[in-house]
Amino acid sequence: MRLDVFTLFPEAFEWFRSQRHVANALGQGHELDCVNYRDTTPLSGGQVDDTPFGGGAGMVLRVDVVEAALRARYGCDPVELRARRRVVVLTPGGRLLDDALVDELAAEPALTLLCGRYEGFDERIVEHFASDAVSIGRYVLAGGELAAMVLADAVLRKLPGALGHAESAQEESFSAALEGAPEYPHYTRPAEWRGWGVPEVLLSGHHARVREWRLEQSRERGARERED
Ligand SMILES: C[S@@+](CC[C@H](N)C(=O)[O-])C[C@H]1O[C@@H](n2cnc3c(N)ncnc32)[C@H](O)[C@@H]1O
Repeated sequence: MRLDVFTLFPEAFEWFRSQRHVANALGQGHELDCVNYRDTTPLSGGQVDDTPFGGGAGMVLRVDVVEAALRARYGCDPVELRARRRVVVLTPGGRLLDDALVDELAAEPALTLLCGRYEGFDERIVEHFASDAVSIGRYVLAGGELAAMVLADAVLRKLPGALGHAESAQEESFSAALEGAPEYPHYTRPAEWRGWGVPEVLLSGHHARVREWRLEQSRERGARERED
């Protein structure tokens, strides 16, 4: 996968790149590039945003600045870009990121993530350049960088080879293997701590019963979640 992140703070992704599953994915030939809107802005003094028409607080990321950044990167009109690759605007009011959307995005050969800052995007960016508007939750962060990292983290760990042998994205919370329910509980040594024990079945060595118990626990958690 070729993952491009457009941001005003590319340095924010340095720590992210060093995470083991991200480094593994990059080592396997997947790519993660950060593009700074400021590097190609057509405005003087590195300007990228402006005051909102109609008044109000904050600054809005300009459509001409985002267009220049996309054109420089892809060499085409950004209106046509979304037919070639998913262009995802990160915004609090977008489609909520869930495991189904992560699966969908992980199947793409290329993704572009657009991070906003300040008051957010000029709406024409969302309307004309983006294929998707995605939110990581119904709350507001100061910028799209953390949201982009959340999305990229969830997507990259789904790619073959990103996780080590001991880990697996096959049977995890919300996966088809668990019928979309949260994962069952895990326990490890010591088998008793301050009088808190471990479910007997997990110590039984009986694989079929362990499997049954885990699926049951997962289903119960799913049912509780639906009730809440
Ligand atoms: C301070 S926010 C803008 C909030 C915007 N004025 C609003 O009320 O919806 C700045 C940027 O952070 C990112 N952001 C903030 N919260 C987010 C969330 N929950 N999901 C995805 N992106 C988010 C977006 O890129 C957004 O443009």
